[in-house]
Amino acid sequence: MAISRFSLLLIFSLFLSLSSAEIRHTKIRSDSRPIIPFDEFGFTNTGRLVLNVSDLSLSNPGADHSKLGFFLCTRDSWLHVLQQLENSAVSCALDSGLVHGVVLFDSVSKSGNSFNKTYEETNPDQYTLVFANCVNNLQVSMSVRSSMYNLDGKSGTRDYLSAGRTILPRVYFMFSLLYFALAIFWIHFLYKKRLTVFRIHFFMLAVVILKALNLLCEAEDKSYIKRTGSAHGWDVLFYIFSFLKGITLFTLIVLIGTGWSFLKPYLQNREKKVLMIVIPLQVVANIAQVVIDETRPYGQEWITWKQVFLLVDVICCCAVLFPIVWSIKILREAARTDGKAAVNLMKLTLFRQYYIVVICYIYFTRVIVYALETITSYRYMWTSVVAAEFATLAFYLFTGYKFKPQAHNPYFAVDDEEEEAAAEQLKLEDEFEL
Ligand SMILES: *[C@@H]1O[C@H](CO)[C@@H](O)[C@H](O)[C@H]1NC(C)=O
Ligand SMILES: *[C@@H]1O[C@H](CO)[C@@H](O)[C@H](O)[C@H]1NC(C)=O
Repeated sequence: MAISRFSLLLIFSLFLSLSSAEIRHTKIRSDSRPIIPFDEFGFTNTGRLVLNVSDLSLSNPGADHSKLGFFLCTRDSWLHVLQQLENSAVSCALDSGLVHGVVLFDSVSKSGNSFNKTYEETNPDQYTLVFANCVNNLQVSMSVRSSMYNLDGKSGTRDYLSAGRTILPRVYFMFSLLYFALAIFWIHFLYKKRLTVFRIHFFMLAVVILKALNLLCEAEDKSYIKRTGSAHGWDVLFYIFSFLKGITLFTLIVLIGTGWSFLKPYLQNREKKVLMIVIPLQVVANIAQVVIDETRPYGQEWITWKQVFLLVDVICCCAVLFPIVWSIKILREAARTDGKAAVNLMKLTLFRQYYIVVICYIYFTRVIVYALETITSYRYMWTSVVAAEFATLAFYLFTGYKFKPQAHNPYFAVDDEEEEAAAEQLKLEDEFEL
């Protein structure tokens, strides 16, 4: 029992902040779990929860209906409820004073095997909707439509986005404008420097435009959810652009890492292999993302795909680092042998910086943003999105700036003094390595 409670707690806390609330339809079939978490939502003081339960059937129709019901519970109270259950202070989560009882099955007027319930939540906080079944070995089947929203202050319109996420459509829209501006600037810049433009610079342009389109669709998708509670605005377009953006961004990192079109016009076999690993994995990652977004959190399917997504993402992030490391190694060796120390040192410095920036970018957008998401209050959930988008923007700007087309190519114009200084430094570095 203790173990299953512990795992319940884990499920509760691990995945809590990730779901985007909207109207959900859930089918429960012959389920005897004592606790079934549904969905979570950040309520303001004008929160509403509407439950429409139909096709309700119990394996033992004579069971005590007062031990079945829905409640809302915050993450903190849940810890205390678990403690109460552990100490036998209460025998059923529904009896705890710490949860907000929404509906007990004995107190609701049912017509046939269905009922409706609207619940007003006036205590602002982040809640999870949970179904409790405190009758041993009782199997419950039902179809549940749950919708949670806040009423907008003045107009009284429904806002289906959780309290901390309600400004996200605007955030995504602002960022998409930034990227469109960036794309226009880049086109202008490429035109000005058209004599020194490589193919990779057009690839960079494509990545920026896809990122802008992706953000625009995300803004529209979120705004559609905000207004209607359903995720079928521009979600298909959003998934398509997410997919293209993911693939092109990783490909760009690999191509720059290999020095393709800067240092050499072709890819080596092992570098092609990295692309052959990363691109299919991105396909998997995007499928996982779609399933995660479209299914109910807490479900087994959801958890599995979440794990698949995390695993694939980690593999892709590690894989893109290899080509940069190989380039650094090749440049180091070239610096020792071909006598053009200054030129090679410059390239070497550039690739080392790039390596560090890619690692920082990956670390920030995966680890720091996740930590932010976990520690910030539900009201400021949007801050982790803003932080991730700023980090991404900084990464794009760095990449564009460092690898921009240059009329005065630093790779070739060097004087003797610089050459000597560089040779000196390389020698120093070698001594440190040994
Ligand atoms: C629930 O609401 C629907 C739609 O308004 C209605 O058709 C249905 O009869 C209601 N059910 C109950 C049990 O009141
Ligand atoms: C759900 O229940 C509410 C009443 O609580 C009712 O107004 C609404 O129409 C119902 N929706 C559906 C789809 O049955």
